[in-house]
Amino acid sequence: MMLVVETINLRKTYMLGKIPVQALRGVNLRVYPKDFIAILGPSGSDKSTLLNLIGTLDKPTEGKVIID
Ligand SMILES: Nc1ncnc2c1ncn2[C@@H]1O[C@H](COP(=O)(O)OP(=O)(O)O)[C@@H](O)[C@H]1O
Ligand SMILES: [Mg+2]
Repeated sequence: MMLVVETINLRKTYMLGKIPVQALRGVNLRVYPKDFIAILGPSGSDKSTLLNLIGTLDKPTEGKVIID
């Protein structure tokens, strides 16, 4: 079936000066048509990082986002 969104081994490492900060460490997500999804977690648990990548506002360090 056609996926609305798929992420494959999605990784994001931010550089805080010279210090790498690993955010997403290999996220595999599949969103199917008619799915209704909420992303839950405490502050700093990578929610915005994931949404920024799915929305193509930022680029993954590794992995892929596939839309439609
Ligand atoms: N621009 C950035 N530079 C360095 N670290 C970042 C940056 N943005 C987010 N982080 C770090 O990545 C992790 C996830 O942040 P974020 O995706 O904003 O979490 P949430 O949205 O769940 O609160 C946190 O450890 C945060 O400190
Ligand atoms: Mg956030």
